[in-house]
Amino acid sequence: MEIKKVGVAGCGLMGHGITQVSAEAGYEVVVTELDRERLDAGIGKISKQLGRAVEKGKLEQSDADAVLDRINPTLDQGEFADCDLVLEAITEDLDLKLDLWKQLSGIVKEGALFATNTSSLPVITQAATTDRPENFIGLHFFNPVQRMPLLEVIQSVASSPEAMAAGLAYGEKLNKTTVETKDKAGFIVNRLLVPYLLDGIRGLEEGIGSIEEIDLAMKAGAGHPMGPLTLADFVGLDTLDSIAGVMFDEFRERRFAAPPTLRKMVAAGFYGVKSGRGFYDYSGEKPVAVNPGL
Ligand code: CAA
Repeated sequence: MEIKKVGVAGCGLMGHGITQVSAEAGYEVVVTELDRERLDAGIGKISKQLGRAVEKGKLEQSDADAVLDRINPTLDQGEFADCDLVLEAITEDLDLKLDLWKQLSGIVKEGALFATNTSSLPVITQAATTDRPENFIGLHFFNPVQRMPLLEVIQSVASSPEAMAAGLAYGEKLNKTTVETKDKAGFIVNRLLVPYLLDGIRGLEEGIGSIEEIDLAMKAGAGHPMGPLTLADFVGLDTLDSIAGVMFDEFRERRFAAPPTLRKMVAAGFYGVKSGRGFYDYSGEKPVAVNPGL
């Protein structure tokens, strides 16, 4: 199963990064979005990052142009027909993902690999709605995709060894560190990271420290690049809440349950960096901690 042409459904936070790293690795990439505005915004982010790399002298202008030339942004899912791998990076909503896969089953050529970038939803539920459950795996990237080395390659109960081998080969071509894992909610990283982030919020609720103190302690004491509350804002509080919900449903353990503060902030529309406010306010030059009013 050789991959030459990649399709990416969704050009948001994760989709634009997956599109960029795939094109940088030499793949032809078709990328779709729901509307022109979202598509232009995602491609704009890729152009900006390539422009910055050229400015810093890390990339030749001609190479940046070649990367952009390999990307075909379109609103027509029909363009996925001859892709060898189609990856979804749309909203973490199972019904939306199932609808997408039903449509793509009728469009994409036989033998092509399908993959989901879900952070916690079951891979097999999505695979089972397609015409090729054996050719369906999870390929879980990390934010920012251009920067984080890891790619989790997830085997569902139906994924064939050939599909896993193709996913691993794709990850290696992207120069990612690949780790094989199983279809259990949260896989490896979120299984460990999500309870930690939720505990950071519970610690804030219990008054172990202020927002800045909790973040500073984990940076200075554990060598993390970001403290847990900064990282929760970076992941997206809505995303964290929804991953916690899926993990709690699967494992029924308190450590996966979303703390009340998280629920309330999500209800208020405080989603973190993406909405301009979470545990920090991002409207100024530097983020400023905002007490969520516990
Ligand atoms: N998009 C693309 N590139 C980015 C970026 C972004 N959002 N943020 C930073 N970068 C790039 C910069 O362009 C820069 O590149 P060069 O070295 O080529 O110049 C490089 O990263 C370093 O940038 P900075 O010096 O500005 O930033 P930094 O050194 O403070 O690092 C960081 C920024 C990489 C985000 C770092 O803070 C970090 O590693 N944070 C933790 C991120 C993390 O844990 N991600 C996983 C989240 S969990 C997840 O994604 C899974 C899930 O399912 C929820």
